[in-house]
Amino acid sequence: MNSTNQFLKPLTAKINSSGNLEIGGCDTVELAENFGTPLYVVDEKTLRTICKDYKNAFSSYKNVKMMYASKALCTMSVARILSDEGFGFDTVSSGEIYTVYKAGVDMLTVLFNGNNKSPEELNLALELGVGRISVDNFFELSLLDEIAKAHNKTVDILLRITPGIECHTHEYIQTGHLDSKFGFDLTQIDEAVEFILNDYKNLNLTGLHAHIGSQIFETSVYRDEIEILVKEIARIDEKFNLKLSEINIGGGLGVKYTENDCPPSTFEIAEIILNKLNECTEKYNIEPPVLILEPGRSVISTSGVTLYTIGSSKQVPKGKKYVAVDGGMADNARPSMYGAEYTAKIANKFDDAPVEEVTIGGRFCESGDILIKNIKLPEIEEGDILCVFNTGAYNYSMASNYNRVPKPAMVLVKNGQADIIIKRETLDDIIAQDEIPERLKK
Ligand code: LLP
Repeated sequence: MNSTNQFLKPLTAKINSSGNLEIGGCDTVELAENFGTPLYVVDEKTLRTICKDYKNAFSSYKNVKMMYASKALCTMSVARILSDEGFGFDTVSSGEIYTVYKAGVDMLTVLFNGNNKSPEELNLALELGVGRISVDNFFELSLLDEIAKAHNKTVDILLRITPGIECHTHEYIQTGHLDSKFGFDLTQIDEAVEFILNDYKNLNLTGLHAHIGSQIFETSVYRDEIEILVKEIARIDEKFNLKLSEINIGGGLGVKYTENDCPPSTFEIAEIILNKLNECTEKYNIEPPVLILEPGRSVISTSGVTLYTIGSSKQVPKGKKYVAVDGGMADNARPSMYGAEYTAKIANKFDDAPVEEVTIGGRFCESGDILIKNIKLPEIEEGDILCVFNTGAYNYSMASNYNRVPKPAMVLVKNGQADIIIKRETLDDIIAQDEIPERLKK
C-alpha cells in the first residue's frame, strides 16, 4: 500500500475549473493574491493522512510511540494537529519545547534530544515536565543529574548511541556512522551505564536511542540498527542486570522530491522494522520493548508547497534562461546547502504543456541561490505563480532573514478554507531586535 511520503504533491492537489492548481480546496493563485508570496501552504488532509498511515502501519506491535521530529517543521498549529493524531514530539531546543508546550501538548509525550543541550534548556525541560531526555555524552550525564537533583526529580533518560551504520544519503545528514558528533560510541556504553547506576541517582535509564540519517531509501540500515540496539539491550541486562524497556530507532524515512525518488512506504518500512524487532527480541531473549520512532520529513514534507511570484528573467546568449522568483535560499536553503532537487509547476498554467527549459533562480544576492536547475515549464510570464512541491520539511524550519528579507507567511488549507498559521514578517519585525547605543544617536 502506498503512503503519502511517496507522492510528489499533496493528496488534494488538482486542477480546478479556472485551470489553476487547487490544494485543500483552495485555488493557489487566489492564495497568492490574498496572502502574498512567497507563501508556504500546508495541506491538512495530507498531513493527517500520513499520521494515520504511520499509526496503521505499526498497529500490530503492542507498544509504539510516534514522536514527530519537530525540527522538520515546528509551529503551534502543526503541533496541535500532530498531538491530535496521537503523536508525541522529538524536540532539540528550548524553542521547540516551548512551542509544543504553548500549543497545549502533553509534555510527557515529549522527548528532548541534542548533542549540546544548555543548562538553561535542561532546566526548562525539567520545569515543563518533558517525558524523556536522550542523553548524548558523558558531560551531559553529569550536568543533567545535577540539574535533576536541584529540581528534586528523577528523570527518565535514553542513551543516544552511535551504531556505526553508514547510509547512502548526503554526508551532512548522515548521523549514525562511527565518526559522528552525536551519541556514545558502542565501546562507551558500559562506562555510561556504570555512572548512571552508581553515581547519578537522579537519572533513570529506560532505553537506548539511535538515529542513522535522513532522506533514507534503503531498508537494510534499519535492520542493522535494530540488531545492534537489541543486542546491546540484552548485553546490558546480562552484565548489569538492568532491563531496558525502550528502543528509539530515530527517524529518516525519505520522501519523493522528484520523479526519480522512490522512497519505501510507511507500510513497507513498518513491516521490515517490526519483523526485525520480533526476530531480534526472540534471538536475544528480551521482553519486546516499547518502540519509539522519530519521523520528521516523511510526516510533514508532502503536505507543504511554496508559492512564488515570477519576476525577471534573463536569457544568457547561447546559454541558460534564468527565471527569478521572489524567494529562494532564505526560505528554502536545501538546494544551495545540499544540492537538493525539487519539482515545480506554474499554478496558473497547471495543465499547459512544457515548452521551455529554464533555471529558477532566487532573489538573494548569491550566484548559488538557484532553486531548480533545468526544469521544463510552459511559457513563463512575469506575474505567473510558481508552486514548488514537497517543501513542508526543513524549509520554514531552516529559513533565515538573509539580505534582511522578511520570512514568508504560512497558511493551513482544508476544505476550501485557508488560515494563517505563521504571519508574514514585516519590516518592523526585521529591525525589532536592533538597538542603537546612545552614543550613536544624534
Ligand atoms: N531524530 C533525530 C535524532 C534526528 O537528528 C533527526 C533529523 C530526526 C529524528 C528526523 O529525521 P527525518 O525523519 O526528518 O529524516 N536539514 C536536513 C535534515 C537534517 C535532519 C537532522 N536530523 C535536510 O534538510 O535534509
